Amino acid sequence: MAEEAILGYLEKNEQISDSGNFAAERGFDHNDVVNVIKSLHGFRYIDAQDIKRETWVLTGEGKKYAAEGSPEVQLFLAVPAEGSISKDELQKKLDPAVFKIGCSQAGKNKWVEMGKQVSRKVQNVEDKVKDLLLQVQNGHALSKEEIGSLKARKLIVPQTWKGYSVRKGPNYAPKRKKAATDLTRENLQKGDWKELEFKEYNFNAKGQPAEGGHLHPLLKVRKQLKDIFLQMGFEEMPTNNFVESSFWNFDALFQPQQHPARDSHDTFFLEEPSTTRELPEDYVERVKRVHESGGYGSRGYGYEWKREEANKNLLRTHTTAVSSRMLKALAEKPFAPKKYFSIDRVFRNEAVDRTHLAEFHQIEGLICDRGLTLGDLIGVLHDFFSRLGMSKLRFKPAYNPYTEPSMEIFSYHEGFGKWVEVGNSGMFRPEMLLPMGLPEDVRVIAWGLSLERPTMILYGIDNIRDLFGHKVDLGLIKRNPICRLGIS
Ligand code: PHE
Repeated sequence: MAEEAILGYLEKNEQISDSGNFAAERGFDHNDVVNVIKSLHGFRYIDAQDIKRETWVLTGEGKKYAAEGSPEVQLFLAVPAEGSISKDELQKKLDPAVFKIGCSQAGKNKWVEMGKQVSRKVQNVEDKVKDLLLQVQNGHALSKEEIGSLKARKLIVPQTWKGYSVRKGPNYAPKRKKAATDLTRENLQKGDWKELEFKEYNFNAKGQPAEGGHLHPLLKVRKQLKDIFLQMGFEEMPTNNFVESSFWNFDALFQPQQHPARDSHDTFFLEEPSTTRELPEDYVERVKRVHESGGYGSRGYGYEWKREEANKNLLRTHTTAVSSRMLKALAEKPFAPKKYFSIDRVFRNEAVDRTHLAEFHQIEGLICDRGLTLGDLIGVLHDFFSRLGMSKLRFKPAYNPYTEPSMEIFSYHEGFGKWVEVGNSGMFRPEMLLPMGLPEDVRVIAWGLSLERPTMILYGIDNIRDLFGHKVDLGLIKRNPICRLGIS
């Protein structure tokens, strides 16, 4: 209704100069008119300019007098036209406030004679105050003096009135068109897309929060590491077997059978199936021999190697188990150099604390070629870790049953202001490589690290249980950024 009136009026007239008057003349509620103006303005059918006016509204007392008459008139009417009334009688007839104010105002106006007895001094009175209040209520303007008198008696208070003056806008039309939000097949078939007005895109509108598809920080860092390996020309090894035999996890790596890591305190052994079904028999024989009595220039460990121990199934304790399978497969073909990597889960029977879990992810890289040296390993590690933002490295001699020499890798952490251990590395021993059948001059340099450690550093997480496992707060995963620019 109001919308039609506004658009219709503007069709023939330059402007609506005052929405208040416009509403009053047509009997619309001004609030409704304002809402229509705002909406039409939003779609630029009209231009609207604010108008502010100081107006007056009745106080509670003012409203009462506008309805019931002013106290002075009420008092006057309570006095008999002829004769008089005692002041006490008069008081009983009126409300105490009305009596009090009425006495003083009617006295001031010289309408009544006040004494012990009260009598009229004039025959008729006009209720000027009530009339003025009604005028204010109806939005009429009063003179300065009239306003002053009502204000002094606290019957009115000022209020800012807001309205609009309105003109045609750039999209003016006498009737609002409903903007189309979609271009449909029907629009195209009928050809009415030519006439349709399409709703504009609101690029400032906030989208709905994306509820699905949040990548866990570990997956994001894994992707970054995978990219680094791929850029360096490494191929990914198939790591899709969490269950491994002790043979590939330990024996093939020249790890003696009485080594403490092979104890159930450190390793999860499987109950069902508890043993592996098949192993490459001739290779098993060579592994047994190298453990027991050596060969290839080694003295071996000099103990009685047991097949039952090698058959035991376990949850792999490192991805180096996969590396040993891959190297064995490599040895079966004419030799070609290889660079392999993997990033996947490993399991250790550890007491869980803020830096240890019973399962974590291991990153492993290896290069297999003729004549590699420890210098090559150090060079590759510098290249790899500097791509991770760790360019200051130090190495410390270490021990692994399957590598010699072995080095722990330390990186200087600017934030912590100290050297932190970031990985382990070494050159695989001949006792591991030669029984596989790799050529004698082939060397394998390799290193391993956890995925959790760099992720915790990158994401500022100091308790591994906040990163991985059943206590992880899903909110953390949803809140953290989709990607990190720059790996450090
Ligand atoms: N397997 C080692 C570990 O679990 C890592 C490593 C891989 C060390 C390759 C040397 C060579 O810590």
